[in-house]
Amino acid sequence: MSDGRQNGTAVCPGSYDPVTNGHLDIITRTSAVFERVVVGVVNNPIRKQKTLFTAEERRAFIEEATTSLDNVEVQTFSNLLVEFARELDAVAIVKGLRAISDFEYEFEMAQLNRKLDPDMESIYMIASPQYSFLSSTGVKEMATFKGDVSDLVPDAVAAAMADRLGER
Ligand code: PNS
Repeated sequence: MSDGRQNGTAVCPGSYDPVTNGHLDIITRTSAVFERVVVGVVNNPIRKQKTLFTAEERRAFIEEATTSLDNVEVQTFSNLLVEFARELDAVAIVKGLRAISDFEYEFEMAQLNRKLDPDMESIYMIASPQYSFLSSTGVKEMATFKGDVSDLVPDAVAAAMADRLGER
């Protein structure tokens, strides 16, 4: 590609339960820097409780929200992140970083991933200020109590959360 983007593939991994506008901001910004972006939706996140949405549902929400980004695709994965990234021949793992509270967790993840594969670089993109407070957990909590999440997640996600959490 001769448009100034970095050659190669970047992986944007996460649980995305569900995707928020903050995640989409990171994915969009990564797609402006790298030739190809694969959003990796982890099938069964080990450290999280049971997910609200299935991996296929989480993948489909991101797919729908990124249709206008030609160089972005979305896949689920069930193996180690570094293995998934290697299979894709990725040059880097890109994640968003919000506040100091993210740092400790992400520091551990980056070091773990480096230990597993010293050649796979982890790159952190600082969250845009308007999304620096936004988390999947936060929007699920708001939606549980019927708070307005329309500015925080895609419309399809807001509707699906209202349905799913309304069932409880
Ligand atoms: O921010 P998230 O949603 O907790 O991130 C999920 C993921 C897979 C990116 C993070 O847990 C990670 O970097 N894990 C590294 C260890 C690994 O590969 N685990 C396998 C999938 S749980």
